[in-house]
Amino acid sequence: MDRQQDNGRFISNEDGNGDGFFDLWPTSFLHRKLENTAAANETLLGFILQQEKNRQDMTVDYLSDNLFAHSAPAIDWLKQCINKTVADYLKKLPINYDIKWSVQGWANINRHGDYHSLHNHPHSYLSGTYYIKVPDARGGSRSDLNPGAISFFDPRPQANLTAIMGDGQIDPEFRIQPEPGLMLLWPSFLHHLVHPNLSDDIRVSVSYNVLLKDVQRYLPHN
Ligand SMILES: [Fe+2]
Repeated sequence: MDRQQDNGRFISNEDGNGDGFFDLWPTSFLHRKLENTAAANETLLGFILQQEKNRQDMTVDYLSDNLFAHSAPAIDWLKQCINKTVADYLKKLPINYDIKWSVQGWANINRHGDYHSLHNHPHSYLSGTYYIKVPDARGGSRSDLNPGAISFFDPRPQANLTAIMGDGQIDPEFRIQPEPGLMLLWPSFLHHLVHPNLSDDIRVSVSYNVLLKDVQRYLPHN
């Protein structure tokens, strides 16, 4: 009997359910440009820069203060946008029950030379970033520089090593050059980094973690 394991379940070819293609170990990624964000972004930028005056280590010490615990119309707007994005993301997954979550967020201010090294987001289910201000800067004469970009990496180590043209496994890096108003959402396990800001202007974004409430209810039974 030919058996395949899918999310802990065995599919048997004997009962006719085993035929077909399976996208194994999916890594769903959401890229969404929000419309008419200029006014909200300006307000958020002012709020964040004001907040930074009180907390110089705001970008690095990202867990000590939840941006969404602050009450302001622009913060509430962003939280609504994130919750809508999370709901749409979860709808896309083959999950047939309601999930409750909370969002913890923090602002990032990257000045000239600032970057974020390779990392993922432990203790979180989904993670994302919303972009408020992204300076336009190129890498100069070097084609391997991607200032201000964010790169995500294939969670299957070395899956590209045996790739052939057209099979979708070639590039282990998924790089995005963000722009204001862009919302991204991905599984928290996905490793990513932010390339150095080579502009004299600041790069400002809000990152967030989606924490599942009462997570014990959602854990698999295997
Ligand atoms: Fe991150």
